Amino acid sequence: MSAQLDLDSILEFTINLALEAGEMIRAGQQKRFASESSNEDEKVNSVDLVTEVDKAVEAFITKKIKETYPDHQFIGEETFKGEKVTDEPTWIGKSHQPSKCLTNPIDGTTNFIHGFPCVATSIGLAVGGKPVVGVIYNPFLDQLYSAAKGKGAYLNRKTKLPITGKGKPLQSLGHALIAIEYGSSRSAPALPSKVKTFQTLAASPELGGKMCHSLRSMGSAALNIATVASGGLDMYWEVGCWAWDVCAGICILEEAGGVMFGSKGSSLSGEVDSDLLTGRKYLAMRGIAPTSDESTLQVQQRFAKEFYDTTD
Ligand code: IPD
Repeated sequence: MSAQLDLDSILEFTINLALEAGEMIRAGQQKRFASESSNEDEKVNSVDLVTEVDKAVEAFITKKIKETYPDHQFIGEETFKGEKVTDEPTWIGKSHQPSKCLTNPIDGTTNFIHGFPCVATSIGLAVGGKPVVGVIYNPFLDQLYSAAKGKGAYLNRKTKLPITGKGKPLQSLGHALIAIEYGSSRSAPALPSKVKTFQTLAASPELGGKMCHSLRSMGSAALNIATVASGGLDMYWEVGCWAWDVCAGICILEEAGGVMFGSKGSSLSGEVDSDLLTGRKYLAMRGIAPTSDESTLQVQQRFAKEFYDTTD
């Protein structure tokens, strides 16, 4: 399906868009920090935040995409009205809405507000419900992650991902560095259930835990996934993400030899789940060396199964 799209030029466009959006984010933060009246709006609750910079960056990204690809649909975090990411199998030749660009203008809005430098703009293009282009740019650390389907994933355009070597072995869950997030659902049953999983992953075996090397929390789903893709994290698990948090990352991760598992029941087939952009449950796993008995995917599935056995 994506063969009909010029992914090289779409990728170039998306990279330039992300760099420009990044400049807006950097400048927007300086302006906010210089102003005494800067504040943020609450969306669902007091930890689900949006700033005027999120809205301005999204408006900028939408405008550019609509000018360049007027037939494409757009789903963005700050303008979302419940649009569904549907599979549109016969989009080729259709004159309307053949693909969807899923963007998160600022992923890590809470970090942005506090000046914690894990902030990114995340722009992905999905065709037929599957991510085919992904760009994640952290303007504060000047890190640009990009990928197009079948063309590899890169950091700052030049360094092929994963940085730490494709398929370095992972001996056990106990040896893993795992990113987790609290997200913005802080009430029962969501939070206690997540915290139980965090505890199981971190605790020592006599407490019934896996005692993984450690847990990390970057506060940006996109950057967590990009770091799994680069090999700096073994896994990233979150329940509660939206399509715009993960679309770009999935493309980058897969191109780097990683895999994104979706909701528990449908995740172990090894293929991108049909609900991957809408399922809201994610386990990203980096490329892991095959063994003499198992392929890379089988090793990833084995770790995913062990991981899922620790979750509710
Ligand atoms: C959020 C961040 C956070 C994750 C949430 C996301 P936002 O995005 O990625 O780390 O835990 O699930 O919604 O609100 O900063 O765009």
